[in-house]
Amino acid sequence: MSTQTLGLSEQLHRYVVAHNPPEDGVLADIASETRRRWPDSVNMQIAPEQGAFLALLTELVAPRLAVEVGTFTGYSSVWIARALPTGGRLRCFDASTEWTAVARQAWQRAGLDDRITLHLGDATETLAPALSDDEPVGLAFIDADKPAYPDYYETLLARLAPGGLIAVDNTLANARVLDPQDDDAAAIAAFNRRVTDDERVTSVLTPIGDGLTLIRPRG
Ligand SMILES: C[S@@+](CC[C@H](N)C(=O)[O-])C[C@H]1O[C@@H](n2cnc3c(N)ncnc32)[C@H](O)[C@@H]1O
Repeated sequence: MSTQTLGLSEQLHRYVVAHNPPEDGVLADIASETRRRWPDSVNMQIAPEQGAFLALLTELVAPRLAVEVGTFTGYSSVWIARALPTGGRLRCFDASTEWTAVARQAWQRAGLDDRITLHLGDATETLAPALSDDEPVGLAFIDADKPAYPDYYETLLARLAPGGLIAVDNTLANARVLDPQDDDAAAIAAFNRRVTDDERVTSVLTPIGDGLTLIRPRG
């Protein structure tokens, strides 16, 4: 949640973006429509440098199946879906029909709708039943309700393909992890502790965006 990496000046952010793969018209249109229709929520969208980074991770992992929990108006899903290998698929989970209508239009416009499936509803109920052991998850991106992060994490870790990766957004909670005073910040701080202490995985909290933690099972 942040359209710019935490702590970067405007000038440095422009420099970073100018030295990354650019946003195309589809991504720029998602961003501008989101800003116009939901100005108070636009910050929920990931930063462009984070999108480019997620796309690079997707290329590296080359998942047959990627999963996104928290799609909003589609910005991060377009970065991920475009970077999938041939035949790769993305399953998106979100509770909002209204926000994901913008995503659906963008997927169609970008020619991505044949590789994305949207699961509408509360992801604490829809995620596990939608995943099967025959179709392990190569890459997962968690970016939905913070108190449910442990639930999404356990569900996805149990279904991760060999060499798979889980990326978790907002793990700095806009710096509120330093002194959590609200439910979301407290949930994130507890999640960070849990993952750091989890001996099943190696995790790295990168300061990109609002904190993006990368997690993979230990060999
Ligand atoms: C931070 S936004 C996702 C931003 C998106 N990844 C992007 O970069 O544009 C969080 C999304 O999670 C969804 N969400 C929140 N709680 C949810 C739940 N329990 N189940 C499914 N979706 C949920 C919201 O509807 C919202 O679209």
